[in-house]
Amino acid sequence: MAFYVTTPIYYVNAEPHLGHAYTTIAADVVARHMRQRGEDVFFLTGTDEHGEPVAQVAEREGVSPRELADRNVVHFKQMVERLDCTNDFFIRTTDPEHEQAVREFMQGIYDRGHIYEGIYEGWYCPYCADFKTEQELLPGNCCPIHKIVIEKVREENWFFRLSAFQGELERLYAERPDWVEPRIRYNEALSFIKGGLEDVSVSRPKLQWGVRVPWDERQVFYVWFDALLNYYTALQYGPGKDVRATFWPPALQLIGKDILKFHAVIWPAMLMANEVELPRRLFIHGYLLMQGEKMSKTLGNVLDPFQVIDVYGVDALRYYCFREVSFGQDGSVSTEGFEARYNTELANEYGNLASRTLAMIERYRDGVVPQAELPEELGAEFDGLAGAVERHLDGVELTLALEEIWSRGVRRLNRYVEQQAPWKLAKDPAQARQLDRVLYGLAEGIRVVSVLLNPYMPTASSRLLAALGQQGGESLALENASLGSVPGGSRVGKLEPLFPKVEAVEAA
Ligand code: MSP
Repeated sequence: MAFYVTTPIYYVNAEPHLGHAYTTIAADVVARHMRQRGEDVFFLTGTDEHGEPVAQVAEREGVSPRELADRNVVHFKQMVERLDCTNDFFIRTTDPEHEQAVREFMQGIYDRGHIYEGIYEGWYCPYCADFKTEQELLPGNCCPIHKIVIEKVREENWFFRLSAFQGELERLYAERPDWVEPRIRYNEALSFIKGGLEDVSVSRPKLQWGVRVPWDERQVFYVWFDALLNYYTALQYGPGKDVRATFWPPALQLIGKDILKFHAVIWPAMLMANEVELPRRLFIHGYLLMQGEKMSKTLGNVLDPFQVIDVYGVDALRYYCFREVSFGQDGSVSTEGFEARYNTELANEYGNLASRTLAMIERYRDGVVPQAELPEELGAEFDGLAGAVERHLDGVELTLALEEIWSRGVRRLNRYVEQQAPWKLAKDPAQARQLDRVLYGLAEGIRVVSVLLNPYMPTASSRLLAALGQQGGESLALENASLGSVPGGSRVGKLEPLFPKVEAVEAA
C-alpha cells in the first residue's frame, strides 16, 4: 500500500535548529518503519521560502530574498542528510513547478467562486506571518509567540471564503474523530471552528516576494497558501513525474502545535474548495523546550543538532528526541539529560549488551551462533513485541514504541545475561546445551531489538545486524522481528563499540 508522509516545510530565514530536526526525524522514523512493513512510502520535506519571514531577514541582511533562500536552504538540506533521513523529495517553494502548480490550484478555487476582493484590518506578526486576535495579544500589543511589539495593518486584498466551509468542517470532525491527533489538538481545532470561522486573506498587496496571483498580477499569495500547497504540488513534479494517483492523499502529516490552525482548519477547507480528497490524518507534536521555553531562533535558546551529531553521532540524537520527550507533548531537553541517557541506555544497556553477546559467542562457541532451542523465559516479553511496536507506530506513538522496545527487549536481555551468567555455564561441560540456548537466545534477542530499533537508530542497529551476519533489505523486514525467525549457524563479525563512552568521545 502507498504511504505518504510529510513534515512542515521550514522557513529559510535562519539556520535550522533541533526543533526543525525533531519533526523531520519523527517523519523518518515512521517512513522507515512503514518500509519495514513493505509499504510503498513517499516521504516529503522541504523549505518555505516566500513571504515576510524571509523577505524581512533578507532586507535586514542587505541581500535579496532569493539570495538568502539559496544560502540557507543548503543548511536545511544538509540537516536532512546529516540526520540520516530518507526523504524521497526535498521541495523548495521557489521551485518554478511548485509556483505554477500553486497558481493553478488557487485559480481553481477562484473559479469555483470561493475567493472575493475585500479590505483587511488586523494585528499582524511578521515573524508568524499571521494575524492575531485582540485576545491573543500580550500586554503592549506583543505577539504571544515572538514577544515583539506588532502593528495593526489595513490593506486591500483577496479573501478566501473560509466561513462557507464551517458546516463541512464540522461534519469532517464529527465523522472522522481520528483525523487530528492527539485528542487535545482535535478538541482545540474543533472549538476554533465552532467559535465561528471568518474569511481569511489569501494575498498580500505590498509584498513582492511570493507567488503572483494569476487573476491580479499586482499581488502575491499570502505565504501560508503557497506553503500548505507544497504537500500537493510536490507529488505533481517531485519524482520527475506526477505521482498523485499513487500517493495522494497523505497517510500522515506531522506538524508542531504552533501551526495547528493552518493545517487543521484552513488546509482542509482549501482542499474542499477544490474538491480534492483530504489527508487521512494529522498528528501534532509538542515543543522541545530549553530552560522551560520553546526552543526558537528568535529567542536564541537553541540546541544545534550539528554539534550534537559531531560529538555523539546521529543515532544518539535521533534516539534521545523521542526517549526524553513523550511524542505529542511538550518536554525539556538538556545536554545533561542527553549525556545521561547516552551513557546508561545507549552505551551500557544496548552497546555493551551487543559487545558482550558477540564476545561470548566468539569465546565460547568459536564465533558461531549456536543452533539450539529458544529459551522459553524470553517468550513472555518478546512474544508480540513487534506487534505492539506496530500498533504504537500506527498511532504515531513514537515514545511508547521506543519504551516498549527498551523495557521488553533491551532491558529484559540485560537481566537475562545476569540471571544466566553464561561465563559460569561455560565452566561446566554438563551445561553445554544450556549455554547454547542462552547464547542463541541472546543473539536472537539483540537481532530482534535491532530490527525494531532500526527506524530510530539506523546506523547502530545495522552495524549490529551486520555483525550477526544479517545484511540487506530482508534482514530489516518487520516480519523477521520475532525470536527464532533466524536459525543459528551464522558466523559473527567484529563490532566496534556502538556508542563509545562520552569521556572517550571527548578525549578523541
Ligand atoms: N514554514 C512554516 C510551516 C509551513 S508548513 C506548510 C513554519 N516553519 S518553521 O520553520 O517556523 O517551523 C516548522 C516546524 O518546526 C513547526 O512544526 C514547528 O512546530 C517546528 N518547531 C520549531 N521549533 C520547535 C521546537 N522548539 N520544538 C518542536 N518543534 C518546533 O512554521
